[in-house]
Amino acid sequence: MSSFLVSGGRTLTGETVCQGSKNSSLPILAACILNEHTVTLENIPEISDVEATLRILTFLGCKIRREGARVAVDASGVTGSDIPDGLMREMRSSVIFLGALLARTGRAALSAPGGCEIGLRPIDLHLEAMEKLGASVTDAAGRIECTAPQGLRGAVIRLSFPSVGATENIMISAALAAGQTRIHNAAREPEISDLADFLNAMGARVSGAGGSTVIVDGVKKLHGAAHSVIPDRIAGATLLAAGAVTGGRVRVKKLIPAHLEPVLDILERAGCDTEIRSDSVTLSAPAALKSVKTVRTMPYPGFPTDIQPPVTAVLCRAQGASVVIETIFENRYKYVGELTRFGAKIRVDGRVAVVEGVPRLYGANVLTPDLRGGAALTLAALAAEGESRIEDVRHIDRGYESLEHTLAALSADIRRID
Ligand code: EPU
Repeated sequence: MSSFLVSGGRTLTGETVCQGSKNSSLPILAACILNEHTVTLENIPEISDVEATLRILTFLGCKIRREGARVAVDASGVTGSDIPDGLMREMRSSVIFLGALLARTGRAALSAPGGCEIGLRPIDLHLEAMEKLGASVTDAAGRIECTAPQGLRGAVIRLSFPSVGATENIMISAALAAGQTRIHNAAREPEISDLADFLNAMGARVSGAGGSTVIVDGVKKLHGAAHSVIPDRIAGATLLAAGAVTGGRVRVKKLIPAHLEPVLDILERAGCDTEIRSDSVTLSAPAALKSVKTVRTMPYPGFPTDIQPPVTAVLCRAQGASVVIETIFENRYKYVGELTRFGAKIRVDGRVAVVEGVPRLYGANVLTPDLRGGAALTLAALAAEGESRIEDVRHIDRGYESLEHTLAALSADIRRID
């Protein structure tokens, strides 16, 4: 079990390059299964969720070639349509293989991903959508089987909530369905547009991505393609938040600043100054951070739930009280108990957290509960006086490419120990 050792109190300064997006890479890698030709992807981050996805692709019969951020997937030999429980458990978002396998092989069998650290995370919207597209779905003893031996056919699907994963599963499966699929109340996250660009690069016909109605006109076959995934707006925002909480000045390059607007708005309200260029953001923290009246997580283009924990860590250092409201996941405050070990003052009542800023945080030993909670604890440790130990950072490794090296290059005193 790896930990981070942090000697806090240093001001973060300098510049860094943003990694590729985790939440784009995972569905895009799954969508490679649709194609019988080789696909080359660039800017794929070196994180453990990507490794788990590549293991599933290999298990299903794909040949993978990886050189750093470039991954070539040859899915011509896909034979399997069952994903064993062990591989499913490695990564909750493996449910994204449902649509891809159904479209390619007419069948998909996988175990229900079940709840995870941040919430129950049911997949009812995914399954209802697959039924609408003509699949038969059985769900027995936690094992889900979807079959569509005659292939899928286009349908009109109205999502009751703009689920990111369900929108992606529908887009992927509808790419090879007969006829047109319309997704109403689709998720509008940048990762949805990235997936649409990738599918279109392979010859699919997807339009409207980024808006609330996505239209997919099914095609019979796809062709080989190359695609570079977008920068990771959550990883980028985490590094800017690290600059904010330590009173520093941090420039993150290779970003799409428009994707960070709701986060930059909150950091500016907290008193930070931001300088936005076409593909970079520089954040300069004030001498004293200000509290923010309300931070409410919402589907895009609202404030992202994934950056809620790191921004809450920033607000711990602000003068005055801030209110954070988590509307997407019911269990995304697990890290708060650990954050209070640094001396943070936070009260949680259901989906609301009231953060009373404190003048200083003190080093502590804490346990990482989940990916973004782990990032929040790391930020608190950077800002705290003295030594901290962040235990069990494998959650952090799921989504951040060697976070300790990135932070150390910005002059943080942080190292990994096993
Ligand atoms: N939901 C349902 N039924 C469904 C699907 C979702 O009730 O069938 C609920 C979920 O339980 C949750 C809400 O809808 O309360 C939002 O879920 P959504 O489907 O939008 O999220 P996701 O696809 O499971 C992706 C990201 C998450 C990110 C969310 C929201 C990936 C691989 N994961 O999850 O990323 O928080 O969208 O933006 O894209 C992370 O990176 O730390 C992370 C958790």
